[in-house]
Amino acid sequence: MQNSLPSPAARARAASTPIEQVGPRILLHTPEFAADPHTAYQNMRNNKYRSSLVPVELAPDVPATLAIGFRTAARILNDPEHFPADSRAWQDTIPADSPVRPMLEWRPNALRSAGLAHALYRGANTAGLDGVDPHRLRDQVIATTTPLINKFCRAGKADLIADYARPLAFSVMNTMLGCTDDVGNEVAWALARMFDSTTDTDKVNQVLIQALGGHIADKRANPGDDVTTRLLTHKSGLSDEELINQLVTLYAAGIEPMVNLIANTVLLMVTEARFLTSRTSFGTPIKDALTEILVKDPPITNLCLSYPPQPIVVDGIWLPANQPVVISMAACNNDPTVNNTDQFFEAEWHLSWGAGPHACFPSARVLACMISHTAIERLLDALPDLVPAIPKEQLVWRPGPFHRALQAFPVVFNPAPPLHI
Ligand code: HEM
Repeated sequence: MQNSLPSPAARARAASTPIEQVGPRILLHTPEFAADPHTAYQNMRNNKYRSSLVPVELAPDVPATLAIGFRTAARILNDPEHFPADSRAWQDTIPADSPVRPMLEWRPNALRSAGLAHALYRGANTAGLDGVDPHRLRDQVIATTTPLINKFCRAGKADLIADYARPLAFSVMNTMLGCTDDVGNEVAWALARMFDSTTDTDKVNQVLIQALGGHIADKRANPGDDVTTRLLTHKSGLSDEELINQLVTLYAAGIEPMVNLIANTVLLMVTEARFLTSRTSFGTPIKDALTEILVKDPPITNLCLSYPPQPIVVDGIWLPANQPVVISMAACNNDPTVNNTDQFFEAEWHLSWGAGPHACFPSARVLACMISHTAIERLLDALPDLVPAIPKEQLVWRPGPFHRALQAFPVVFNPAPPLHI
């Protein structure tokens, strides 16, 4: 007699709720979400959803699942077999001109690859980044901050994004990758559009290929002590297309989060009393402010995408095949079951660097923290009375599901003399 018992997978599926029935899909691409994402996460947690997985939309007609529970996210991030990062089976299901395509489409890089390809790209990037001398780079960060601060210190006002954090992050990344300022400027233009999810994919890709293709040819002729040369000479023997894509990823992964980490940490430090020094006490150190931002309000809010090749049940929710599962670092780090205290010192448990096989490289984390710390220290040493030019509540956050990014950060301070070069 034939066994008519359903399989364990079929039984799990029958007992579970499809993700689209968990609640109304939340739009992560609106200005309202960008203005107050933390209330949105709290509502997801407290109100209707009561689930660690929530249906969201990353862009018009681009549905996804957002993991907002820490433990659920950790499980997904550490299970690359069921949650691989390769987006190829998914990307053709979304509109060709979808604004999230440049950011999420498959590229031959570590971030969007799985298995052996991931190991290959990750190995090359590790070698490239491990070769960076943090002490020499710190000297270069200091050398870069001086002319930037000197440009605005006498004016008594500045936009910390456009006048400081962004040019600093680009300049440091150009140095690390051995790129000229011209190449860096073109990459900057393309990446800003990629992160804002507001533009034409073909144009973005075309600019990146042209600028970085030229840079690779240059480095082949004139090798240097930089990440590009180490990628070029790595035993993995990457093709030009692969090299371009490693560089795009390094720029994208390095610059946007670093700009936002610097700006958001300065904002915290100049608006929260405990970070301000007085004549009788020292303020809380920059390192603690950086950690607090990484834990509570991370610069990359939602990312670490994976695409389950088969339908899969997680926490009693049934997720469809080939639809992105996005990790909300911002929501998971504030999950009250793991974070119910304001003591973050030395915290390393958070998900802001990702986790599992795609987690940010240890050397990149050290460099990002050193660059951000040095940039903030130099700025606040030079202009200790710096404050926001407008109330914090009036600052505008750029829309886009993936970042926590101020459009501009206008500040004022007493005019100060230039720093010595
Ligand atoms: C504040 C600074 C930074 C933050 C918050 C950050 C965060 C992250 C996160 C969350 C991931 C995982 C992404 C995913 O799984 O989809 C990641 C991966 C990555 N990061 Fe970072 N990162 C930072 C700085 C940097 C820097 C400075 C570099 C290089 C110059 C870098 C290079 C990379 C690369 C290449 C990956 C992909 C690794 C892989 O897929 O195996 N990151 N980073």
